Amino acid sequence: MTENVSTTSPLAAEAPGPGCRKSDPILVASDVTREFGGLKAVDVDHVEIPRGAITALIGPNGAGKTTLFNLLTGFDNPNSGDWAFDGTDLAGVPAHKVSRLGEVRTFQLTKVLGRMTVLESMKLGARQQRGESFWAAFLPFLWSAQEKKIEKRAIGLLKRFGLYEKRNDYAGSMSGGQRKLLEMARALMCDPQLVMLDEPMAGVNPALKQSLLGHIVGLKDGGVTVLFVEHDMHMVHTIADWVIVMAEGRIVAEGTPDVVMDDPAVVDAYLGSNKDRDLGEVIDGIRAGRVKQVDVSDVRLEKDESVIEAQQEAAEGAEDLGEELAEGQRPAPLSATDPGVGPEDEGKDKA
Ligand SMILES: Nc1ncnc2c1ncn2[C@@H]1O[C@H](COP(=O)(O)OP(=O)(O)O)[C@@H](O)[C@H]1O
Ligand SMILES: [Mg+2]
Repeated sequence: MTENVSTTSPLAAEAPGPGCRKSDPILVASDVTREFGGLKAVDVDHVEIPRGAITALIGPNGAGKTTLFNLLTGFDNPNSGDWAFDGTDLAGVPAHKVSRLGEVRTFQLTKVLGRMTVLESMKLGARQQRGESFWAAFLPFLWSAQEKKIEKRAIGLLKRFGLYEKRNDYAGSMSGGQRKLLEMARALMCDPQLVMLDEPMAGVNPALKQSLLGHIVGLKDGGVTVLFVEHDMHMVHTIADWVIVMAEGRIVAEGTPDVVMDDPAVVDAYLGSNKDRDLGEVIDGIRAGRVKQVDVSDVRLEKDESVIEAQQEAAEGAEDLGEELAEGQRPAPLSATDPGVGPEDEGKDKA
């Protein structure tokens, strides 16, 4: 397949189209299916996500975008399928381990916790994404060293995301848009390589949209790969390097925004009325390069390898012991105190 390659983008290793190979994929998935009572919500033959780019996943409600996110991040189990993140086989790996490996996601319905302060929520996100366990409680000397680092990183990220003044407020008192920002900031607590954002702009006012857009572009500039679900086609057109179109569980089109989004078949069949929604000056701001850039490198958690290794060993030991208990249970939500929004709830906010 290497001869006669005609590409319109350096991201692709062959002619753009559904399932096309990428020159440097960070995520590669094959034959992924998920059925709900006879309905094939996801039926993806092959898909590759290009590293270091912003990829938009678009398609009508019910196309299977959220279900695919749930599968690829270990929040749901497929009927079949394999996928690898950065060369590591991830099928069957639970969510907390997936995020520890550097693949994190946010939720279409925000999982931010109402009865926890913004800072607590950030710190909790780091712990749970690291898969830390009750064993940590037996190792308080390790805990306090790590706790300080976590707090330092949380504060750095809150400043970056303009939420530092709100650090002691209850997350539940914030607007929907601020919660989306908090969720994105929290996803960065574990220094991910791939961030998957499920409708990060939904229900966000224009001013905060501008901020969110800037943060997404800033993630890429900081070397993070972004995969996001979005209905606003102008926004997709402006910030995405690559677009993947899903419909009825399948990947039906792929390519650069210019090509895919001008394809009349895609516009008519899959984008419908969303096509003409406009963010007006938000997009103008992005085009004019006036967006604030986020540099996540300078808020990187200094990793003390011995501490992390000890914690991982403890967590793994706990997992072995707790296997029986965990068997058959849904992966833990991001919070210990809030049942959160599970994959089941994710599918419910159509309309
Ligand atoms: N937990 C679930 N139980 C039953 N059906 C579900 C569940 N989650 C999603 N679905 C169904 O799977 C299909 C894909 O849903 P979803 O992945 O949420 O689509 P999208 O995110 O593209 O809007 C829809 O028909 C939806 O109703
Ligand atoms: Mg969805």
